[in-house]
Order: sequence, then C-alpha cells, then structure tokens
Amino acid sequence: MFLLRLFPPEIAHTLALNILNFLYKIGLTKILFKVPKKEKHFYFNNLTFKNRVGVAAGLDKNGDYIDALGSLGFGFIEVGTVTPVQQFGNPKPRIFRFKHQHAIINRLGFNNKGVDYLVSRIQSRSFDGVLGVNIGANKSSEGQKRIDDYVECFLKVAPYADYIAINISSPNTPNLRTLHQKENLLPLLEAMDLARVQANYSNPVFIKLSPDESNNTIFKIVDAINKFQFHGVIVSNTTLEHDQLKDSQNENISGGLSGKPLFEKSNLLLKTIHSYDSSLIKIGVGGVFNKEDFQQKIESGASLVQIYTSFIYQGPRIINKLLN
Ligand SMILES: Cc1cc2nc3c(=O)[nH]c(=O)nc-3n(C[C@H](O)[C@H](O)[C@H](O)COP(=O)(O)O)c2cc1C
Repeated sequence: MFLLRLFPPEIAHTLALNILNFLYKIGLTKILFKVPKKEKHFYFNNLTFKNRVGVAAGLDKNGDYIDALGSLGFGFIEVGTVTPVQQFGNPKPRIFRFKHQHAIINRLGFNNKGVDYLVSRIQSRSFDGVLGVNIGANKSSEGQKRIDDYVECFLKVAPYADYIAINISSPNTPNLRTLHQKENLLPLLEAMDLARVQANYSNPVFIKLSPDESNNTIFKIVDAINKFQFHGVIVSNTTLEHDQLKDSQNENISGGLSGKPLFEKSNLLLKTIHSYDSSLIKIGVGGVFNKEDFQQKIESGASLVQIYTSFIYQGPRIINKLLN
C-alpha cells in the first residue's frame, strides 16, 4: 500500500485494483481481509442488501473488479458511470490527492469502455450481492441525443442491474448538471419511465444528485421523482466548492471534490431531502471515514451508505471499521 503512494494517483488506483483482482483470483482476499462479522440485512423492493455499506460509482467504471470488491464484504456495488460509446475522458493528470484533508479532486470526465463492455463484465460476475449500474451520456451528446444515450444504457443494462442510478450530477461532463433544471429533467425522466416500461423493469431506479444546487431546485426534482414513481436518490456526487481546501496550494485545481470536506455538505442535502420527503429511499455518500460518519448518514435519512475516497485512503479495512 505504501509503495502505491509513490505513483501518480490514477496509476496507483488502477494498480491497487489490479492487485486486488489478483489476490481475489488466487483466493487470498478472504484470508487477508476479514469480512464483517455482524451484518444487518436491509430489504428493499425484493432486494436483500447483506449490509448497508456499498461501493460508490466511479471506482469500478467498467465492471472489471466486481468479484474482487464483492469478496471484501461490501453489501452492494455500483458500477459505472457507463456511457453508450467508449470514451477516454479528460487529459491527464485528472485525479489529485489531498492527503492531509482526506480528500480527492477528480476531473476524469466519464472515461469508460462503453455499455456493451460493461454488460459483458456483469454477465460473467460471480458476486451474488446487490449490483447497481450508474448510467450517463457521452460527452459529445447534446439535446435529444443526450437523452437517447441514457435510454440506450438503461435498456442494455436493465436485464442485469439490481438497480439503476441515473447520473445527472457529474461536474466533469460539460453541461451535465443542467439536467437538474426542470425543463431538462422532465424529458429525461419521461424517457427513463418509458424505457422502464419497455424493459419491464421493476427494480429500483435512483437519481444521483449534485450537492451544489439550491433547495428549490432539489425540491422540484424530488417532486418529479415522485411523479414518475422512481424509488430514490443518491446524495451526493462531488462538489465544485473547494473552500475547504483553502490552506492548500492546490485549491485552484478544477474538478469535483470528494472525501472529508464533502461530508457536511452532502449530509445537509440528505437531511434537507429527508425532511421534505421521508419516504423516498436515500443512499448517502460523501466523506464517510469512520463509524460515526456512517451513523450520521443513517441518522440524516440514509437507508444505505456508499464510500469511495475513504476506500482509496484506507483500503479494505474501512468496511469492517464501518460495520463492526
Ligand atoms: C476518482 C473518482 C471518480 C468518480 N467517478 C464517478 C462516476 O463515474 N460516477 C458517479 O456517479 N460518481 C463518481 N464519483 C463520485 C463518487 O461516486 C461519490 O459520489 C463521491 O466521491 C463522494 O463520496 P466519497 O466522499 O466517499 O468519495 C467519483 C469520485 C471519484 C473520487
């Protein structure tokens, strides 16, 4: 683990995941990393989550590490964000670590191998826990084409996804966050609703939200989610507000900020949505590093919790730390 820190972050992440895959394949992950002992199941919409801690989107964008991550004891895994066509994302470097702040800034820009590749990976998985798929649009897609991208991904992943997350909140694809505005969101949700009927999809559909929107915008989104009877929200994606990195020389690096500095902001949004609509299912994500953080997400209204940045900094032991 220590040696990995010597590499640039993106190379270190890929190396770490490949080492994990190797350890899994030779049967060592279960020996090296103890899976949680006391597990409280969570049941929702015919799905059984064996515990409430999951992998957030972006860690396994292409479904290359599902079984290895599953062997560590995660209750659920969300793969993606996937787009219809493979794309390389923004120029490197595009992941920046802020070790002292326990934070990361990324501006990857939906680099992924495309939905057909992801589907082939999902089909060959052995992981029998809950698998969510996070879907998005290609960078060059605008207007109706952008909506068509979501529809294509939805229809292709529906036969294999225990839930589908509609990602409207990545800050690194130009204009994607305009999908938070009513005039752009309603046509998208309408199209997702039709795709759901066409695919005969009765599993949950979540919308992944930005923490940088006004309450007014968020309440309108919740109303729209209810109108179409989608199941819930994932709160939240990364933030463009970097105030918490004030002391750092690198505060001007552009991209989405995750980790500890996102904790309060994403919690506030979670609480706001929960007080507006307590029956909507919420997946809490943002800055969870210890059991207290996990508990606070649950107390703020989350039924399930996801992690990304703490897994990067702490490795697999974080899962036990949160659950035992
Ligand atoms: C390097 C990196 C890549 C990410 N990629 C995605 C992505 O493709 N889709 C998505 O919905 N969220 C993505 N996220 C956001 C995470 O899923 C999560 O919402 C965010 O990092 C907050 O959680 P954390 O503080 O535990 O990291 C990414 C985050 C990071 C750090």
